[in-house]
Amino acid sequence: MKNKIEELLNEIEAFAAESSESVEEFRIKILSKKGKVTELFAEFKSVAPEMRKEVGEMLNELKNKAQEKVNVLKEKFKYKEEGGKSSLDLTLPAELVAMGSRHPLSIVRNQIVDIFSRIGFTISDGPEIEDDWHNFTALNTPADHPARDMQDTFYLSENPDIVLRTQTSSVQVHVMENTKPPIRTISPGRVYRNEAISARAHCQFHQVEGLYIDKGVSFADLKQALLYFSKEMFGEETKIRLRPSFFPFTEISAEMDISCPFCKGNGCNICKGAGWVEILGCGLVDPAVLENCKIDSKIYSGFAFGMGIERITMLKYQVKDLRLFFENDLRFLKQFNAVI
Ligand code: DAH
Repeated sequence: MKNKIEELLNEIEAFAAESSESVEEFRIKILSKKGKVTELFAEFKSVAPEMRKEVGEMLNELKNKAQEKVNVLKEKFKYKEEGGKSSLDLTLPAELVAMGSRHPLSIVRNQIVDIFSRIGFTISDGPEIEDDWHNFTALNTPADHPARDMQDTFYLSENPDIVLRTQTSSVQVHVMENTKPPIRTISPGRVYRNEAISARAHCQFHQVEGLYIDKGVSFADLKQALLYFSKEMFGEETKIRLRPSFFPFTEISAEMDISCPFCKGNGCNICKGAGWVEILGCGLVDPAVLENCKIDSKIYSGFAFGMGIERITMLKYQVKDLRLFFENDLRFLKQFNAVI
């Protein structure tokens, strides 16, 4: 029996067909009801029980090989006879592989980084778990300073000296402590505030801090850098306006509005009819902050600014609810396909 199987196996392997008819003849001879493989299966009954496992496996393999040979040859002749056309159309475009897309906040962060790096700003980084000094005290905001009420902070209950940073301004301090001026850097990163989650507020969000320290840096330099940024980000026709404000770490301080990118300043529901939307806080670095970081404020001056990435993204893409950024709903995320 084993010999017969092997012989037939050799015969099958050696078979070469000239046409689809000869393949069909071969199929009938080997696999049909009266075919050789079928005959061997019939003989299987007489195989001794101790041999059955081995012979059974050989038989199955034989049948599979025969079937496979017939399939391959049939396909080959079908392709030839149809003049090269077969059900397998090799010219069809490949099936598209689903691709991920960048998160809108990453797209906008990358754009901000790109815009400032073109005017010589480097990127710097600092810890999200921060000490009181870097997040508040060095930034001219001592423990009893009323400005601390502006930010509801997550403090570590065992150690109130440790906070989740409430602002990327903390990175300013790290950079100034570790770098000799001139300094020109931006610091994108995540910040945390103890706020109820709503369409306009979240307990975690993202900011980009900017810092420029050198000899003779003035408010005019700040204005020019921010005008350049605003035009690059929101379009050449964008105008800026600075309003006096207060931050503990800048003196003088300002908030900056851009002309509404949707109505071009005419008034719409996005800018609530004002024609302007606020996008960032800025100012000249308070000399006390420079001194806290061992930079001589008689020699050096500088400007700083800070903006929320969510806010810029919402304005750029008309996103009305901040929570969408953190829900990871693919229907939302798939709408942003930028490659940068
Ligand atoms: N840190 C401020 C905030 O979180 C934003 C800010 C305002 C940063 C003025 C600055 C600045 O560097 O000069 O609201």
